[in-house]
Amino acid sequence: MSRSSWGYLLSFAMVAMPAVHAETMVNDTSLADESNTTNWLSYGRTYSEQRYSPLKDIDTTSVKRLGVDWVMELPKDRSLIGTPLVVDGVMYFTGSYSVTRAVDAKTGKLLWEYDPKSIEHAGDRLVNMWDSSRGLSFWNGKVIIATIDGRLVAIDAKKGTQVWETMTIDPRKAFYITGAPKVFRGKVIIGNGGTEHEAARGYVTAYDADTGELAWRFYIVPGNPADGFENDAMAMAAKTWTGEWWKVGGGGNVWNGITYDPDFNTVLIGTGNGSPWNRKIRSPGGGDNLFLCSILALDADTGEYKWHYQTVPGETWDYNSNMDIVLADLKYGEQTIKALMHAPKNGFFYVINRKNGELLSAEKIGKVTWASHIDLKTGRPVEIAGSRYEDGEETVWPSTFGTHNWHAMSYNPNTGLAYIPSIELPATFTDTKVDLTAWKSPHGHVSVGVEFGTEDSPADIGAASLQAWDPLTQKQVWQVPLPNNWNPGTLTTAGNLVFQGRADGEFVAYQAQTGEQLWSVNLGSGISAPPITYSVDGKQYVSLLVGWGGGGLIAGSLSAQHGWSYKTHPRRLYTFALDSTVPVPASPPPHFPQALDDPNFVIDPTLAEHGKEVYSQSCFLCHGGGAVSGGLAPDLRASPIGLAREAFADVLIKGAKLANGMPRFPKFTDREVDGLMHYVRTEARKAVAASK
Ligand code: HEC
Repeated sequence: MSRSSWGYLLSFAMVAMPAVHAETMVNDTSLADESNTTNWLSYGRTYSEQRYSPLKDIDTTSVKRLGVDWVMELPKDRSLIGTPLVVDGVMYFTGSYSVTRAVDAKTGKLLWEYDPKSIEHAGDRLVNMWDSSRGLSFWNGKVIIATIDGRLVAIDAKKGTQVWETMTIDPRKAFYITGAPKVFRGKVIIGNGGTEHEAARGYVTAYDADTGELAWRFYIVPGNPADGFENDAMAMAAKTWTGEWWKVGGGGNVWNGITYDPDFNTVLIGTGNGSPWNRKIRSPGGGDNLFLCSILALDADTGEYKWHYQTVPGETWDYNSNMDIVLADLKYGEQTIKALMHAPKNGFFYVINRKNGELLSAEKIGKVTWASHIDLKTGRPVEIAGSRYEDGEETVWPSTFGTHNWHAMSYNPNTGLAYIPSIELPATFTDTKVDLTAWKSPHGHVSVGVEFGTEDSPADIGAASLQAWDPLTQKQVWQVPLPNNWNPGTLTTAGNLVFQGRADGEFVAYQAQTGEQLWSVNLGSGISAPPITYSVDGKQYVSLLVGWGGGGLIAGSLSAQHGWSYKTHPRRLYTFALDSTVPVPASPPPHFPQALDDPNFVIDPTLAEHGKEVYSQSCFLCHGGGAVSGGLAPDLRASPIGLAREAFADVLIKGAKLANGMPRFPKFTDREVDGLMHYVRTEARKAVAASK
């Protein structure tokens, strides 16, 4: 064939190409492209994690016309807290136990479903795990998920079949994953949780995104010096620890915030709290305990240490820095600084120069009583005496939920504001009954070296709000009160809007500069996931997973106040568009479980006291503080199973309900089972008496 006929064929082929959309290559270029309007390619939309979309068809005027376009029922799911991705008209999302689905983003039609069989893989490690997954990654034709039991799995995005799988944790350890893996430069990185369940030494690992082969690993805290340090950073960190910290792990687990910064080819890691929480045990001679509660900057290619900024030196309150890390170019007069914004649990909002980790500013975004302020010269908090429960007990703000938790904030470059879901709650820390020298790390139950309140929290103990915060002036611009303590993350758009779901089931749009409420709809279940927006064929959509869940539902009556009850309220994926009029499907009314009592059951107070202790170590994370369920698992006070010794033991010892996420406790003694029974009966009897 002559050269010219090739040319003819080529041009013909180009003209005759079907009118499909050009396929987006999900790689470093597209993930860094803030101007892309159609897709939502990563957890925070783009590498900046701003959760800001340039889409503006839905704006402050048109938002009134927003209606339900399609709904997907998810009856098998429970806790839905994830951020979906959208790539070229296909939406990918993780539900309970990281079950992953691809759906047509225009119609909601299921394209494929992949079940990583997390419960089977977790086995008896399920006792440590929540069923939630915050999200997933997309790289080069593959969807990459993390499972609660510790695996990374790459799935072919078109076929829904597994491409590779790798175990990221030592399965003998009580670690778990709830966070979204993050991709950059052909690698995928993940950390894990577990500081409360184990002598935990946190770390992050980067793998080859195409093969799953390990590329590099970075430990957050130093190990035993006698074994030698992995790198100079660990040797430096070890100087800030005292005693034999490696025996209790040290902690620092990275269970959420990881951001890739393409400007400096750095991965920014938000690190966790101590293992155990109480520094008197962990590092008895004091010390900052690097790199706990820090932003740690690592070279993306090698995992080498670049710089760090520690938000809580010597942490002792579970004030981790695992919250999201948002990148922006901030203008200080004539100077533009490549900054990061971070609102960790500790109650301050930080702006940091991401070139070198220099602190630019830090101010309180809520009630904080552990520190008066951050000294900008030293970059260190100025602590308030007594807050470290030096004499054995202290009530401090914020609580272990933090002023801000993992519910992601968004940042709108047009308004210059960050939109933060925030919480105001106290916690009382007591270690008077803890043997500080003989304390032993747990394995498979919760023990943190200090009591922090695992009993019922009254519904009115605190407050919550959505805040618009100006990072330049470090001042609040507006604030809207929110119900409960557990409200999800935000989305902001070029339509001058902020979207947020709420604990009471409302999904709301606000004017981004003023906080004026412009639109809302009630979706009939508590909302725990952040919304996203995208477009298909030029039409803008907004999507949101609805399913009350996540680890924050442990607060008893505080979490239970809206009546979102295990299995009663539907789990759904909603998508909205302008002028769409699909009715919101019906939901049952709020349900408040009624406690059961058997007057013939004779409660043994000693057994009940023992059961209370076992409950707070092994049950409260799912069934709620003080046996009051926050909606994540059945309320045990209302369960008939708790009235029958044999049925109760079958559930606990034999795993009669394992397939539905109720773990087995095969090693429980008769006394532990009896204790739990007597404790549940005590709480049930109290509730029955109170309702009369
Ligand atoms: C990891 C989360 C988790 C933990 C930890 C957990 N549970 Fe459960 N539990 C569940 C879930 C989910 C169910 C509901 C299973 C179903 O739908 O069948 C459940 C169900 C039950 C039931 C049956 C209730 C009924 O009426 O069907 C009992 C009893 C129970 N759990 C007791 C306990 C006790 C006691 C502990 C602590 C020793 C505990 N659970 C720890 C998640 C958990």
